This record gives sequence, C-alpha cells and structure tokens, in this order.
Amino acid sequence: MLELDDIQHILLTRTPALTGRYVFLSFADAESGRAWLREILRTVRSAADVGVTEDDRSWVTVALTWNGMRALGLDEETLATFPAEFQQGMAARAAMLGDTGENAPENWVDGTAGPDLHAIAILFARDAAERGRCEMEHEGLLTRCPGVRVISSLELEAIPPFDHAHDHFGYRDRLSQPVIEGTEDIPYKGSGGPLKPGEFILGYPDESGLPYPMPDERIARNGSYFAYRRLEEHVGKFRDFLAEHGETPAEQELVAAKLMGRWRSGAPLTLCPEVDDPELGKDLHRNNDFDYKEKDPHGYAVPLGSHIRRMNPRDTAHNMNRRRMIRRGATYGPHLPEGQPDDGKERGIAAFIVCANLIRQFEFAQNVWINDKNFHDLGNERDPFCGTQDGTLEFKIPKRPIRKKITGLPAFTTLRGGAYFFLPGIKALHYLAGLGGNAQADAHLEGAK
Ligand code: HEM
Repeated sequence: MLELDDIQHILLTRTPALTGRYVFLSFADAESGRAWLREILRTVRSAADVGVTEDDRSWVTVALTWNGMRALGLDEETLATFPAEFQQGMAARAAMLGDTGENAPENWVDGTAGPDLHAIAILFARDAAERGRCEMEHEGLLTRCPGVRVISSLELEAIPPFDHAHDHFGYRDRLSQPVIEGTEDIPYKGSGGPLKPGEFILGYPDESGLPYPMPDERIARNGSYFAYRRLEEHVGKFRDFLAEHGETPAEQELVAAKLMGRWRSGAPLTLCPEVDDPELGKDLHRNNDFDYKEKDPHGYAVPLGSHIRRMNPRDTAHNMNRRRMIRRGATYGPHLPEGQPDDGKERGIAAFIVCANLIRQFEFAQNVWINDKNFHDLGNERDPFCGTQDGTLEFKIPKRPIRKKITGLPAFTTLRGGAYFFLPGIKALHYLAGLGGNAQADAHLEGAK
C-alpha cells in the first residue's frame, strides 16, 4: 500500500498548472532554514490531498540538496547514508554526464552549480492570479526568514494554445509516462504494465525483486530524487534547420517528426510514418500503442537516434522496467510565434527527471541514451534535442533506397542550470524542520505525528 498521505503530490500527480515559479534558495544558518521549512510546509500537500479538481489552483513542492539537508543541521552519520552521486551533486558529475562545452556548469546562469544551493520551492499555479497570490505569500515568508537567500528564480509559463502541453519547438508533450502499481493511473496501451513503486519512491519493492535498501529511513521513506535540467531551446535555430532540410512545409514537418519520433501533433511515427494524424496524436488510448522490434527494427519509421526512441527504446532494450523516469516540470520564457524572427530571449524547458536511483535511471539515460555517440551503433550521433552537440555530429534518417544523413547538427538546446534534489516525504520534511530541538521545533514535531 502506498502511503499517499506521506508522499509529496508531485511524485504521483501531474497537475494542470499553466504558470508558476521555481525559487532556488540558500540557508545562512540552520535555524533560518528550518524556520522557512516549518512555515512553507503548511502549504505542501501530499498525494492524498491533491485531487485534480476545479478548486485546486496551486501546488507547492519542496526539495532539498544534500548540502541543504546538512545546512538544516542533519547529522553527518545520517547524511552519509545518501548515495555518493547525490552527495556530489549534478555539477560535480558534469563531465561524466556529458555536460561539457556550452553545457558545462561554468556557463550555467542560475546559480545552481554552487555548493550554497540548498532548496527549491516549486510554486505551480493554474493561472496568473493564483500564481501572484502564491508568490506574494512566499515573498512574505522570505521577509520573515532573513537568513534565507534567493539564489535565483525562474518564471514558468505554458505556451499557447493552452489546451494541451507542448514545448517551444511545438511538440505535444506529456504523452508517455510510466504507471506505478498501487495508483489509480490508467495504464494506456503501450505504456507497459504498472511498475513496482520502488522504481520511483523509496521504501517500496522495486522491479529487481531484491531487498531495497535506502538512506536513513526517517528522511528517505516516501521520498524520491529529482534531476533538475534547465534546457534553453533555440527556437529560431530549430526553425531555420527545418527550413534548410525540407523544401516544402510537409517535408519540414517530416524532418521535425524524424528528430522526435513523433509528429509535432504527438502522433507516433511508428503508427503513421508517412502522414500526420492529429487525432491519433491527442488520443492517449492509442498514441503509445507501439513497439519497435517487430514493426520498425531498422528505424525506417522512427530513426534509431530520434529522441523518443533513445529515451524509451521499449522492446529493443534490456531491463527497460529499471530505466523508466517520471517527467515533471514546465516551459519557461515567452512564446515565439511561428514566422517571427528569434528575439534572443531565453526560453525552454525546466524539467525534473524523477527516479529512485539517479545512477541507474537518470545518469544512465544521460550518458548512454543521450550522449553516447555510438548508441545503437549510430557512430557519430547524440540525442538531437538534449545531447551535447558541438556541430560535428550527424543525424541519420533510414530510408529506402538511400538513407538521409544530416551532418553538422546544430545544438538546438543549451543547458542553463541543473541540480540533484531529494524530494522528502511529508513526515521527513517535518523531521528536518524540527531538527535542533528548540521548543518551537518540538511542538512542530508533535504536530506532525
Ligand atoms: C529540451 C529538451 C527536450 C525536449 C524538447 C523534449 C521533448 C519531448 C517530447 C515532445 C516527448 C514526446 C512526448 C511524450 O512521449 O510524452 C518526449 C518524450 C520523452 N522525453 Fe524528452 N525532451 C527533452 C529533454 C529530455 C530529457 C533531458 C530527458 C531525460 C533525461 C527526457 C526524457 C524523455 C522521456 C523518458 C520521454 C518518453 C519517451 C517514451 O516513453 O516514448 N527528455 N520528450
């Protein structure tokens, strides 16, 4: 049984937020951090509390870095029970993750590479008015906690039209997501069977069937890890690329579809390889109902190097159930309407890759599926959207009689920030807020029982 009342809602619920703000924070001292946590905790809701109803208009999430838990006063013995990759943080592991060149932490713009990053408050809201209310509330809290400094913040905005999620390049998103055993999520055809909760939530059996050790239970139980990635999308460059490689609008759409593995409508190329089918694109019951091994072993429909075929090779990968990731997050920056020249403003995706094991899930995806130039024997390719591109790599589109090979693929995205966070369960947040044992904190702990 999942302890829904102890799991932060974001892990299990994809809320219909259209706007919001991420606030990256640093604690000058333990008591300031704990005072902030004690208060914001009142607004953090569990998976049991959050239903997606019309009345639900804002959603607050709190996650901490390893340095953040230390800054709150967590003892060294307990801190040492967390895995080394989380202790080190994303920036320290950049070389191994392939975050080099323009994507290297030295170039990140939001202060997330530094050791003083301690926490993130994720304030999601349904509309601008509610967002304004949440931001004011949080700003008020910060004025009462002068020892808590804002390192940076990021304003989030969905892109019009708002009836479905898509990114700045125009692709429909939020189509494929793993289903967790014990939740009410619908396992749409092709999503795979429900996975054991331990793949995403600490303290539960996972797909290995083996015992599932975790860091100190008081902090880790019902928690998860977040790999945060702020990826700027160079929309002008992407549109120029499509124009260069497709003579007609239809050819350009096909090139866009080949890079992703889905048409921008969301329709998967495996099911409609020649012509887009927007109705299929929006039909969650049908638009994941495909595999690759039998239908498209050589990538004539979905190139082996396309984004979705890399990020979920489905029946062509071993151990796929141990590599799934939950995706949360939002787009940021202004929409660039079709036909308008690039205005040079930053826009992109600020995403959290959610998993129970950073090495086995996120880091594996990052350094094998995304950045290994020879993944699937492709020779000289990386993921066309989130691989580190330096202008020397290719993208091959298998085709009879002759395949198409695009050389000198430009970087459509640049990594602008990143971090590893731990998303504690509600009780663990109360425990951390109550460290230090002063009277206020003790009372708080009592209340949390
Ligand atoms: C700016 C960069 C990125 C863009 C534009 C992008 C866009 C998309 C889109 C449009 C889809 C298809 C919709 C869907 O299947 O839900 C998708 C799928 C996916 N993406 Fe990304 N993505 C980006 C970065 C990443 C990163 C960094 C990761 C993980 C490390 C990731 C992991 C996935 C996964 C796991 C899927 C589902 C594939 C499937 O199950 O078939 N993406 N992405």
